[in-house]
Amino acid sequence: MPQTIQDIIKDVKPLGSLSSILDELNHLIKNPSTTINQVEVVLQKDTNLAMKLLKIANSSFYGHATRIDKISQALVMVGMNQVMDLLTGSFVVDHFKGVDSKFMDMNKFWQHSIGTGLAAKSISEHLGNSDLEASFVAGMLHDVGRIVLCMNAPDQIGQAFEKAETANISLTKAEMDIFGFTHADVGMALFQQWKFPQNIIEATGFHHRPSNSQFSRRPATIVHLADGMSHVLKFGNGGGEKYCYFYEPGSWEFLGIPTVKVESILEKTDQNFESIFRLYF
Ligand SMILES: [Fe+2]
Ligand SMILES: [Fe+2]
Repeated sequence: MPQTIQDIIKDVKPLGSLSSILDELNHLIKNPSTTINQVEVVLQKDTNLAMKLLKIANSSFYGHATRIDKISQALVMVGMNQVMDLLTGSFVVDHFKGVDSKFMDMNKFWQHSIGTGLAAKSISEHLGNSDLEASFVAGMLHDVGRIVLCMNAPDQIGQAFEKAETANISLTKAEMDIFGFTHADVGMALFQQWKFPQNIIEATGFHHRPSNSQFSRRPATIVHLADGMSHVLKFGNGGGEKYCYFYEPGSWEFLGIPTVKVESILEKTDQNFESIFRLYF
């Protein structure tokens, strides 16, 4: 029976050839003399990837009136770092979207995930941040650790679901009681192993307790609040969480968002949900 986080993540299938493309892109993007054409050549190695990028560039995520037909145009419009974040998100969704679980309604799980991503993007937009893509992806991936628990520790996660039900506690608390850690810790360890960007790692690991973040509290606070908003908007659920979502006190204040603004952020999130969900599923 798996005991530690490492035991649980060691059997997750590696990202495979996609991870070598990500490495190659990462390497190119870090070099200031890299040209758009060099990045384009790497992206075109995988038709699926190139198609996905064009779909995102033409979606309501950006809301541009002009049609983007070429990878080079998409790279200029979206930005190279942002493309990396978006592709990372796509890889992970593709990696796990075929997984079925007797414990969770996976359609609801992914609705909640995309909803959280869009809410995180709306919060970032409201704050005038330039890294909207990173917030979206961190939100979209925040609960992936729960899929990993269902896949690789089914007996214990089964006990956690049962305990949450019988003891009337949140599933996250029940995970802590059974495993000694939660889906947030599992997701963080997996993304560290995959060498994902630091803000995605932190936002995933501390999305239930952003004040415990080690590197920067901001990305985790954005995802924490977005997670709650996704519950409020009833975009699926994070895999069986039935209990009222509790915001860590001081989170809205930390970002400097007055509560009167929350409604307009919620509205913006709601508008794009259907079309963005269809991009991935
Ligand atoms: Fe969570
Ligand atoms: Fe969640």
